Amino acid sequence: MGAQVLAIANQKGGVGKTTTALSLGAALVREGKRALVIDMDPHACASIHLAHYPEEIEASVLDIFYADESDAGMIWPEIIHHEEGPGFDFVPASIRLSDLEVDLKERQGRGGIFRRAILCIENDYDYIVLDCPPHVGVLLVNALVSANLVIIPIQTDFLALHGLRLLFDTMGTLNKVLVHPLQFMTLGTMFDRRAGACRRVLNLLRKKMKSRVFDTVINLDTNFREASAKGKVIYEISPKSRGALEYTLLAKEIIKDEIS
Ligand SMILES: Nc1ncnc2c1ncn2[C@@H]1O[C@H](COP(=O)(O)OP(=O)(O)O)[C@@H](O)[C@H]1O
Ligand SMILES: [Mg+2]
Repeated sequence: MGAQVLAIANQKGGVGKTTTALSLGAALVREGKRALVIDMDPHACASIHLAHYPEEIEASVLDIFYADESDAGMIWPEIIHHEEGPGFDFVPASIRLSDLEVDLKERQGRGGIFRRAILCIENDYDYIVLDCPPHVGVLLVNALVSANLVIIPIQTDFLALHGLRLLFDTMGTLNKVLVHPLQFMTLGTMFDRRAGACRRVLNLLRKKMKSRVFDTVINLDTNFREASAKGKVIYEISPKSRGALEYTLLAKEIIKDEIS
């Protein structure tokens, strides 16, 4: 069976998308899975985190979109890097990804470019994790239609549920043209058990989303910021921390369910 593609998406910024993409990717590797993490955000935060600086990068995920589709198989080896510390393979982003909207305007079938390109590498991995951009556009559409599962991190604070509308609208529009409707799961992040607001949001989330909420909730953990500042993933700086443990639990939940 080919790789499961997990798209980490939420229109809201700062909810833990990039942290989830990197930590989950590393957790899956620690569970013995072959994982590839792809940075699809023009802000390139995941790339910068792993010391791939956009101003220096020449080869990036952008090349997949500009190449002839028949060349995708040759492009992947040029843009995939192995990351020793986290243990996963990684494809950096480019700030020029934001030009795609205009550049692909006339291209037929532009929403499926990425999905078709992924077919070339789907047997090389168990999981392909996509760190999605926050805005609706051709990049997000390409990521979503490639996904077996859309994972929506939700910051468990007061305003967290408001930003979801746009994402559900986008998924609803895509579902009209897709053969199988998009599967999604929400993930509570930055949870502070001492804060009543956090507990209320989590309860509301479980009530509204029912089984579409992971059992695992990611608590606030300063090790994430620490890891990010050092250009590492949490398993490298603090493998026994609560944050590390929780992403391991999330990985186990995903592996067990094989939701697709
Ligand atoms: N569980 C957490 N506890 C504490 N800080 C976190 C947690 N998850 C993420 N962060 C921090 O919050 C900030 C935003 O997270 P990030 O993953 O970059 O969000 P996004 O990709 O959605 O914009 C980063 O500084 C990150 O280190
Ligand atoms: Mg991000």
